[in-house]
Amino acid sequence: MLKEIYEQPAAIADTLAGRLSEDGAVDLSDTGLGDDLLRRLRRIYIVACGTSYHAGLIASYALEQLARVPVQIEVASEFRYKDPVLDPDTLVIGITQSGETLDTLVAMRLSRAAGAPVMALTNIMGSQATRDADAVLFTRAGLEIGVAATKTHTAQVAALLLFALHLAEVRGGGAAGTAGTDMGGAGGGTRASEASAGGRPEPAELLRIGRELRRAPDLVQAYLDNHRRLDQIAERYHDQRFFLYLGRHVGYGVCLEGALKLKEISYIPTEAYAAGEMKHGPIALLDEGSPVVVVATDGPVYAKVVSNIEEVRARKADVIAVASEGNTDVDELAAAVLHVPKCDPWVSPLVAVVPLQLLAYRIARLTGCDVDQPRNLAKTVTVE
Ligand code: M6R
Repeated sequence: MLKEIYEQPAAIADTLAGRLSEDGAVDLSDTGLGDDLLRRLRRIYIVACGTSYHAGLIASYALEQLARVPVQIEVASEFRYKDPVLDPDTLVIGITQSGETLDTLVAMRLSRAAGAPVMALTNIMGSQATRDADAVLFTRAGLEIGVAATKTHTAQVAALLLFALHLAEVRGGGAAGTAGTDMGGAGGGTRASEASAGGRPEPAELLRIGRELRRAPDLVQAYLDNHRRLDQIAERYHDQRFFLYLGRHVGYGVCLEGALKLKEISYIPTEAYAAGEMKHGPIALLDEGSPVVVVATDGPVYAKVVSNIEEVRARKADVIAVASEGNTDVDELAAAVLHVPKCDPWVSPLVAVVPLQLLAYRIARLTGCDVDQPRNLAKTVTVE
């Protein structure tokens, strides 16, 4: 697992290679998805399980905000029970790194049988998912041996951001537009206002995000090379019986993924919530010193996340924040801060998840768990 965490800069770089030019333009002609289909799309369903679902959830924000297509994300194992409304103008994206997860394959097949075009996002050439799809977007993370997914997750997020940019460009950046997405801005997007509703970003803004995405491998590498305090934080909290994770916007998917990693390899119960939900019940779980991991990187919801941190502090719980370098207001409120390099908010899920993977790894090691042989071994089924 640790080796694969450290392979993430290469996994992301290889996934972007040849698909993102220096000026930030995206070329996804290798997927086999025609522009006509992308222009006429009226809806996207994303179906996936576990870590792949979290990548899809993160991407759903980019697909709606950048490409202005309604996106519904579904746990693949539940999709069929909805008798989903599908048609030729609804794209179904099945995300499965292995390409062999039965629930995802069944959801993809059902969609195809109902006449919806299906795109697979997978890491494995020749996998079943590639045969159950009309188009394939490959991640190029290399084989993932660890049961706990790490490098395939960040590669999925990178590929899906590419797809969101491509879709936005094909559908005419700026055509329905107002003022952009309010996700960028100098210094990595520190504006604290809500994400804009209804505006389609201008082509120049899409190119700017593309150029920011090109920096992702270097940003992850910089964190891996220079991170501090993880050992100290793991040492201090590894014997806790419960961790709560909170985040908003793309940080919500990141906190779900961080919570799954800790649960899966250390067997410590975790819960992850959209931070705004905390006051609707989960806050009751917090006592003095309870560890609450909060994803508080730069972005449009940063100020709201800071106010959630204040709510957690009011219960005397301990905040472990993942924050952008230089955000000193978080330093003052949190019991511990894991600083990540400043970056564009759309790129932040690729960077912010890395300290959470490493925190899970360190805690699991301290509690004597074998991170490479977790209990969760039976996960995929090959279907003829
Ligand atoms: O191969 P898939 O992406 O379809 O796998 C889906 C899940 O089983 C998988 O992401 C699982 O949640 C991870 N191994 C958790 O780390």
